Amino acid sequence: MENKNAVRIQFSKNAEKYRKSRTHSDTETLNHIFNLISPRGTEKALDVGCGGGHMTAAIAKGVREVVALDVTPEMLVQTGKLAEERKLHNLSFCLADARNLPFQTKTFNVVSCRIVLHHIQEAGAAIAEMSRVLRKGGKLLIQDILGLDGKEARSYMDNIDRLRDPSHIKNYGREEWTNFLERGGLKLVYSELIPGVYTLEDWTTRSGTPSDCVYEIKTKLSNMPVNVSKYLKATHSGEDWAIQMRYILILATKK
Ligand SMILES: C[S@@+](CC[C@H](N)C(=O)[O-])C[C@H]1O[C@@H](n2cnc3c(N)ncnc32)[C@H](O)[C@@H]1O
Repeated sequence: MENKNAVRIQFSKNAEKYRKSRTHSDTETLNHIFNLISPRGTEKALDVGCGGGHMTAAIAKGVREVVALDVTPEMLVQTGKLAEERKLHNLSFCLADARNLPFQTKTFNVVSCRIVLHHIQEAGAAIAEMSRVLRKGGKLLIQDILGLDGKEARSYMDNIDRLRDPSHIKNYGREEWTNFLERGGLKLVYSELIPGVYTLEDWTTRSGTPSDCVYEIKTKLSNMPVNVSKYLKATHSGEDWAIQMRYILILATKK
């Protein structure tokens, strides 16, 4: 649980930016996720790591009720503001850690966790905990940043991620995601890779990255070893950089 304080420091300072983030509020991805879950209006849902509230708000439209959960109090406030703006009234809030959910087993029909698990050392344990609170046949939706294929490239990118945001732990690879689902008693129903781009200025502004760390990131991007540049694709124009990345989107059901 040692990363909880780093997460709270990082996100409490930058909370509002996540509610206002264009990346997190992208309606194309959120509508796609909503259609994948295809709620019937009767579900009790849990959104783990609700952050600025975009996943919570998207799912709230289609379910009976949703619990927005986060380890950072300031992020729950942001989700509350977004819900107010959208006039959503079927939300409740819970301050808790994804690895220790304060709910009885088999409480929810749907659990979502979007762009959170790379902050968690024991992501497998968090997924097992989400599985515990799901009813049989219930749906788990995960979106996260996919670790790069090459081993050296993956840890090089994790170092860049940590320079940008000290609460970053690691981007998990495909084999790790498969393993987490199996260990959690979940059946993979659908998965997809969604290409994306980090524009360095937008990415580091959102996380309040100090200028010396931005400089170090640029230096790392300019001096990638061959084993890294084979997998980590980054181009620059003027002062800014565009870093190619991929999200993994997973829909699984509780066995
Ligand atoms: C990028 S934001 C999430 C974005 C949000 N899910 C969305 O779809 O817009 C990451 C969030 O994960 C939360 N978080 C990180 N580690 C956590 C943990 N162990 N338990 C619960 N929340 C956590 C952070 O506090 C932060 O609010």
